Amino acid sequence: MSQRYKILGLIGDGIAGEIITEGLKVLEAIEDRCELNLEILGPYPVGAKYWVDHDLKRGWPEELTEELFYEADAIFKGPTGLPDLVGKLHGSYTPINMRTELDLYANIRPCRLRPGVKSVLTGRKPGDIDYIILRENTEHMYVNIGGFMKRGGETELAIDNYVQTKKGCERIIKYGFNLARSGDYKGKIGAPLDGKRRLTCACKWGLTKGDDLFKEIYERLAKENNDIERDSTWIDSWSYYAIMKPGFYDVVVMPNQYGDIMSDMSGAIQGSLGLAGSINAGDKHCFAEATHGSAPDIAGRGISNPMSMILSMGMMLNWLGEKRGDKRLKEAWRSIDRAVDEVLTEGKVRTPDLGGTNNTMELGTSIADAVLKIE
Ligand code: NAI
Ligand code: MG
Repeated sequence: MSQRYKILGLIGDGIAGEIITEGLKVLEAIEDRCELNLEILGPYPVGAKYWVDHDLKRGWPEELTEELFYEADAIFKGPTGLPDLVGKLHGSYTPINMRTELDLYANIRPCRLRPGVKSVLTGRKPGDIDYIILRENTEHMYVNIGGFMKRGGETELAIDNYVQTKKGCERIIKYGFNLARSGDYKGKIGAPLDGKRRLTCACKWGLTKGDDLFKEIYERLAKENNDIERDSTWIDSWSYYAIMKPGFYDVVVMPNQYGDIMSDMSGAIQGSLGLAGSINAGDKHCFAEATHGSAPDIAGRGISNPMSMILSMGMMLNWLGEKRGDKRLKEAWRSIDRAVDEVLTEGKVRTPDLGGTNNTMELGTSIADAVLKIE
C-alpha cells in the first residue's frame, strides 16, 4: 500500500470554486495514473464572501482549525478577496497567515511559453521562454510594520517599512541556486537561449539599503555556487529585458513586492494569467495557489482557465515528492505538466483567455482525460 498523504483544500472567492473543482478532477486522475494515496481534507470555503455570508463574524468554518494547517502534508488554496471588500473586513481570510506562520519563504512562479499558445511577444515559439520568478515571500514591503498618523479625524500620514534580513536574503538566494541546478518546474533545464543554468538577481541595489544587502549576499553566494551562471540586473531594467530577451533567463530571484508585480507581467508573457501556476514553499510546508486573484470580471460565468490551479497542484506534488523522497509524486507533477501541454497542443478545448469558446469544466475534463493517457 502506498503512503497516504493528507492534502488540505481551501476554496476562496470569485472563480476559486470553479478552478478548484477542476483541480480536484485532475488530482483524482493522477491518483489513478501514479497510484497515489491522497486524502483530501475539505475543501473548505474561506474568503471575503464567507465573511459577508456569516454576518462578518469569521472568514472560515469552525472545523477548519489551525492544527489542520500544520498536520497537512501539503495545502492548496484558491484566490481569496473581492475588490469591493479589500480593507473593509476586520480579520483575515484564513485562521493563520499561511505565508508567515508556515514560513513559506519561496514563492515559485514559472513562466513558460507552452505549445499551442500564441505569444503576446512577436516571433517567439514554444520553448523560447522558460524562466522562473523566485519571489521572496516573507519580507520587503509586505511585512506589515507601519501605520497611519491621524489628526482631527483625518489620515495625514501612512508609513510602510521595507525590511530585508540576512537570514531572509540568504535562504531565498540559496533556494534560487538549487532551483537552477535541479531544473524543477521548468520545461527544460537552463535558459532557452544558451542552455546555461543561470540565477539572475533582480533588485534595486544602490538605491535601497535592503536591496544593497540582497545584492551583497547574492554576490557572496554566487562565488560558492560557481556551477551556476551569475547575472544581475536592476529590477526596472529587468522588466525591460524580460520582454526584449526572455530566453536569456532561467531562474530570477527578487524581493517580495518586485516578484509580485513581475509575476503578473510574466502571466502576460506566457499568454494568460490563466496559465500561471505557483507554489509557496518553505522547508516544512507548502501551499499551491495560482498567481492570479479571484478574477471578479469573469467570476460566475464558468469561463475561467483552470490550468493555473491544476499546474499549481502539480507543483505542490513535486515539492512533496522532493521532501519525502517519493518519486511517484515527482512523476505526478511531470504527468500533469505534460497533460496540460498535450491539451494545448491539440488545441480543441480552449477557454476564452486562450482564444477559444470552451468552458472551465470542459478544459478541466480534457486535462484529467489526458493525465490518464500519459505514458
Ligand atoms: P486578477 O488576477 O483576479 O485578474 C486580473 C485579470 O486576469 C482579469 O482580467 C481576470 O479575468 C484575468 N484572470 C485571472 N485569472 C484567470 C483565469 N484563471 N482564467 C482567465 N482569466 C483570468 O486580479 P485583480 O482583478 O486585480 O484582483 C481581484 C481580487 O483578487 C482582488 O480582490 C485581489 O485582492 C484578489 N487577489 C487575491 C490573490 C490571492 O488570493 N492569491 C492574488 C491577487 C489578487
Ligand atoms: Mg500578486
